[in-house]
Amino acid sequence: ARAALGSRNLILVGLMGAGKSSVGRIVAHQLGIPFVDSDAEIEKVSRMSITELFAAYGEEEFRALETRVMKRLLKNGPRVVSTGGGAFINDRTRKHIKKGGISVWLKADLDVLWERVCKRDTRPLLKTENPKQTLENLMNARYPIYELADLTVLSRDVRKELMAEEVLQAVI
Ligand code: S3P
Repeated sequence: ARAALGSRNLILVGLMGAGKSSVGRIVAHQLGIPFVDSDAEIEKVSRMSITELFAAYGEEEFRALETRVMKRLLKNGPRVVSTGGGAFINDRTRKHIKKGGISVWLKADLDVLWERVCKRDTRPLLKTENPKQTLENLMNARYPIYELADLTVLSRDVRKELMAEEVLQAVI
């Protein structure tokens, strides 16, 4: 997989809770290339948490910053880049991602995603009356766009190591 990648990046996309960051870290380790998480990078440059950013500037500003950060992160490949769930949905950010390497959609069922997002309270988009319904709505709206990724790997409720292995197999 390392040779198949060349200087291209491996970019993980998909909904919140799909396992992009944890799987990405393992994949990068296996490939012996750097791992970056775009949300963590956004928090670093803004010196704010994602929640604070949404509260202070709103989603639109967040997306603009996300586009800029993504463009920069994809410059010096190869890297494994895990993205925030909305990154690939944004037209401008998706263009950078498509140009910057191989995109892999970690696709998961609603119940798997839901179980995972419940473990952390860091998703401003899910601060709604019925967060599970919101997640389902996001899923329905976004799935046709995630389909545009180069590869799809089913993110079942299994060990992260096995999912990382499936990502590596898909890339070869
Ligand atoms: C978002 C997903 C989050 C984060 C922000 C918006 C989204 O990332 O970027 O809360 O639009 O789906 P994760 O997918 O890492 O939770």
